[in-house]
Amino acid sequence: MLVYEYVDNGNLEQWLHGDVGPYSPLTWEIRMNIILGTAKGLTYLHEGLEPKVVHRDIKSSNILLDKQWNPKVSDFGLAKLLGSERSYVTTRVMGTFGYVAPEYASTGMLNERSDVYSFGILIMEIISGRNPVDYSRPPGEVNLVEWLKTMVTNRNAEGVLDPRLQEKPSSRALKRALLVALRCVDPNAQKRPKMGHVIHMLEADEFPFRDDCRAGREHGRPQRDVMRGRLMEKGVSESGDSSGYESSVQTNKPLWRKQEPEEQ
Ligand SMILES: Nc1ncnc2c1ncn2[C@@H]1O[C@H](COP(=O)(O)OP(=O)(O)O)[C@@H](O)[C@H]1O
Ligand SMILES: [Mg+2]
Repeated sequence: MLVYEYVDNGNLEQWLHGDVGPYSPLTWEIRMNIILGTAKGLTYLHEGLEPKVVHRDIKSSNILLDKQWNPKVSDFGLAKLLGSERSYVTTRVMGTFGYVAPEYASTGMLNERSDVYSFGILIMEIISGRNPVDYSRPPGEVNLVEWLKTMVTNRNAEGVLDPRLQEKPSSRALKRALLVALRCVDPNAQKRPKMGHVIHMLEADEFPFRDDCRAGREHGRPQRDVMRGRLMEKGVSESGDSSGYESSVQTNKPLWRKQEPEEQ
């Protein structure tokens, strides 16, 4: 029997999708802290344990929140132990509709990269306040990943924000989070970042000048060009996909048209 500490604020799903009134108590900063804390929890499961643990059911109702809104990854009911560098093939796919990685759903091939996919969906859910699949929405908006990619391709990143957010994040912070989410849901599991790398990408936002300086020195070009290159790369990496998710993303242009002034 496992005994857990009692976690005061219930689960994240209740706060994202429950009746919390017109304004959510989850500010952008709290949401980013939840994303980062969850990433740290998953990094521990994937990279800090031997054998590693694949959670298999990362979703908002399995993220508990304490009084200070710190996240706790919970519900290890489906967790699977995996020896290093091993994948596991199962004929009984477990998980939750909308969060399950395409290769796991279609072939039963399981490794930690399927948690990374679910985590990417979770980021999108936290940013938008929308469910991964929502049949009450118009046809183009039912699937959160597809809708979000369309919005980003149409240069409307701000349009994906949860309307219950009282204060909007900076455009730079929003794009950073969306870029991480999009990389995590790459249909090619091998191209998804590892969770440790996800932490690095998320935390880089907090110390932009350190990275800016290093990138500028190494490549002899300003950071805004480096970022633009990354966004281009992301666009290109989404070509040749077979999942059907990518059809709305054009492959030869950056996801966002111009860099924000604050990046200069
Ligand atoms: N330690 C805890 N403190 C507070 N609430 C909890 C705790 N553990 C579970 N819960 C609540 O119970 C719900 C279901 O728990 P969970 O472990 O996810 O089981 P299940 O297998 O039923 O999904 C959670 O979403 C959360 O709301
Ligand atoms: Mg649960």
